[in-house]
Parts: sequence; C-alpha cells; structure tokens
Amino acid sequence: MAFRVKVFFMISIFFVSHIFAEINTNEFAQRRDKLMQKISQGVILMRGAVEYARNGDVNFKFRQNSNFYYLSGFDEPDATMLLLPGEAQKFIMFVKPFNAHMAVWVGESYGVEGAMKIFKADTAFANDTFDDVIKSYLRNKETVYLPFSDQEFASHITSLLNTHYGRYPKKIEDIDQYINDLRQIKSTKEIELMQKAIDITVDAHKEAMKAIKPDMHEYEIAALIKYIYLKNGSERSGFPSIVGSGPNSTILHYEKNERKMTQNDMVVMDIGAEYGMYSADVTRTVPVDGKFSEEQKDIYKIVLESQKAGVEMTKPGITLSDISNKSTEIIKNGLFDLGLITDKESRWQTSVWFMHGVSHGLGLETHDPGGYRNQKLEAGMVFTVEPGIYIGENALENVYMMSRMGVSKDAIDAFVEAVKPAFEKYKNIGVRIEDDVLVTETGYRNLSEKAPREISDIEKLMSKGSKFTE
Ligand code: GLY
Ligand code: MN
Repeated sequence: MAFRVKVFFMISIFFVSHIFAEINTNEFAQRRDKLMQKISQGVILMRGAVEYARNGDVNFKFRQNSNFYYLSGFDEPDATMLLLPGEAQKFIMFVKPFNAHMAVWVGESYGVEGAMKIFKADTAFANDTFDDVIKSYLRNKETVYLPFSDQEFASHITSLLNTHYGRYPKKIEDIDQYINDLRQIKSTKEIELMQKAIDITVDAHKEAMKAIKPDMHEYEIAALIKYIYLKNGSERSGFPSIVGSGPNSTILHYEKNERKMTQNDMVVMDIGAEYGMYSADVTRTVPVDGKFSEEQKDIYKIVLESQKAGVEMTKPGITLSDISNKSTEIIKNGLFDLGLITDKESRWQTSVWFMHGVSHGLGLETHDPGGYRNQKLEAGMVFTVEPGIYIGENALENVYMMSRMGVSKDAIDAFVEAVKPAFEKYKNIGVRIEDDVLVTETGYRNLSEKAPREISDIEKLMSKGSKFTE
C-alpha cells in the first residue's frame, strides 16, 4: 500500500493531473493566506462540489466548485476545507478516503495522505468523520464563515451548530464575496492558462470558419469545435457551444445546434474552451456561404465598430459602465441610421435589437465574479466585450411586451409601423462579436485578437478549404 501510494504520488506530480501540474501549490497557499488576512477573526468552512446522478448509476462529469478549486487545487468530489487563521495548523481537509476496491473500477484517488502530501493540507481526515471532528475545531470560535451560495452545506453546518449550545460560533457570515474579490485579479499563471484556453478557442473558430458551408448542420460545426478542444488538451467546454444560424443567430443562448444551415444565413459561434479549469469566451459571426451580403455587412459593421471601441478604451481606472455606454452609443446610432429605431434617446427601442450586457468577468467561470458596473478596472482583470444586434423574426410582436415597462401602445404601434421596412430587410440576421480583454498597467491586451473579425479577413479565411470537410 505504502509503495503503491508513493508511486501514485510520483505519477500524479508528473503525469496524472495536468490541472494540478499547472499551478504551483505555493500559489494556492498564498490565496488561502490572503483570504485569511481579509477576515478579522473566525474560521472558514467550505465544501467542494459533489457528484450528481445523471441517470441510473451514471453521474454527470465532475467539475470542482470554482472557489474550492481556487483555494486548494483539489479536484475530487465530496471534499471539505477548514481554514483557521492565526493557528499553526491552519489548512484542514476532509476528503474521500482511498479505497482499493474503488480504485479497481475508477482509478486511483488522492485520499487523506494525498491531501496532505500533494495538496499540502496541514492535516486531513476521511470525509465520513466530518460531523464529529469539526466540532472540536469549532469549539470556542466566535464566527464561522460559510459560502452562502452553497445553501445545502450552510444549512447542514447551521443545524450542526444549533445542536450544541454555548461554546460554538453564534455568528455565521458569508465568505463568497471575499473570495470573489480575490478572484478578480488574475496572477501571471492564471493569465497563462486563460491565454491557452483562448488560443485553443481561437483555433476552433478558425477551423470552423474554414469548414462552414451551406447544407451543413450546426452540430457538425459544434463537433469540430469540440474536437479541436479535446485534441489540444482542453478538458471540456467552459459552457455549451452556441452555434446558431439564420433565425437561431438571433437567439442569445441557443444551444440546440440542430438546424441545417443555408446559403444566406449568418452563423453566430459563441464558444469557449476550458483549460486548466479556466474558461475562454469568444464569439465570431460569419456568413454561411463565406461572403457577406450587403444587408449582413450593414449590421456587422455596426457591431464591429461598437466592439472595437469598447475594447480599445480599456485601461485601469475606467469602469465596465463606461465601456457599455460607449459600445451602446455606437449600436444606437447605427440602428438609427438603418431605420431600425426612430428615437436615439429611447432605451427601450434600442433594447428591441440589443438586449444584453456588453461585458462580464472571465476566469475559472465563463461569467466570473467582478467587473461590477461602477467598479474601477485594475491591471490583472479579465473581462469580455460583446455587443450584438439581433433582428429576431418575432421582434415586432414581442415588442408589445414593452408595455409592461410603461411604454404606451400608441408609441409601440408607431415604432412598429416606422421600422417595418428595415425589419423586413434585416430579418433573421443576428451578429455578436466577443473578445477577451486583459487590463494591463497601461491599457489592455486583447487575448483573443487572433480570431479574425474584420470582414475581409473572415472572407479570406472562409475561402480556404478545410481538411475536415473535403
Ligand atoms: N458566452 C455566453 C455568455 O457570455 O453568456
Ligand atoms: Mn460572454
């Protein structure tokens, strides 16, 4: 057993977990120390992700909870972490014990010994001892910090504490916001992993652009994207790939990917590989037949101008609201010039064709914490810039929902009447362009700039053959 465990440790360091191999254990320790410094007193208790049944005895593929991973690097289910600021033994883990029988079926696991040797827990216990062991750690403590996002765990700890009067913490606080704040500023190593996830995604975009042809199905493109991810060491997508053509290009989170693409469609590809647990999120929109029509160009050029302006103004000190205002202003002017809105001052009119936010944080999650609207950007933050215009085929019927926001029926009638000709001209064109942007000391770096977004570059790439569709 001892020998086997030792061999396993050697293997894991060099081969098994490429995720673990990417980030040094010191970096995880520094993150835990920073978090512990942020709370004045008390202990921190967090649970990792658990496994969920898919059907029968098959589980969904496991992915660690992002905050738990951020602080430990530990990537197995059913683990719990206790942090004890100011104590000699300040990092305690509860993990699934090593089980030789299970190892025959599903392979090796870290076990209690691995939690200490590989993940540098000061001490570790089998997770089935948690309810008993945790009591001794919580005795005489004032405050316990828990992730309020994990309601089930918070309830379990609360009921555990409620059964013990007197010497146990009476104050329960939320730890999520403290970790979310830390996660906003990415380290050099995190940026390296994100760049790798983004490079793989850019590669997938380029291969997709070369392969797309009329009469292919959206799922064939989604399959090609997935192939490029896996071939390049990405463990999975950061989120389900969106490959939406024609009418589907106007559906923001279309994930079915089942339609047959036709000659005059635009296709939105909103995709992101995950690598070393970090997600990319890059969108490109291209014409299925490889040549933009005049109508497609009209819409595309507005989105491109808006997106570039948003990216280019990035620097420390500004806010995501500033970027959103600038990008939206350009969209609004463009829509007005095309006859798709009649009043530039009207927010509701613009929202008929552009109904989502321009940016969100990016990191361990596709929608990472941070980039709150009026928070000033700082070097090390990564976020997306992704304006769009969507001429949905039901938009002029759906616009009557605006009456719920206090817009009068007369105003909506007048709007519908005025924009109808432009609507008919541009119907079923959806365009979104999205890049991943790192804030630097002096400005920004567009991490996904290698994915073509200029009309001429897209048309040139699409005219090249693809080894996947020949
Ligand atoms: N890429 C999906 C989203 O940003 O919502
Ligand atoms: Mn996005």
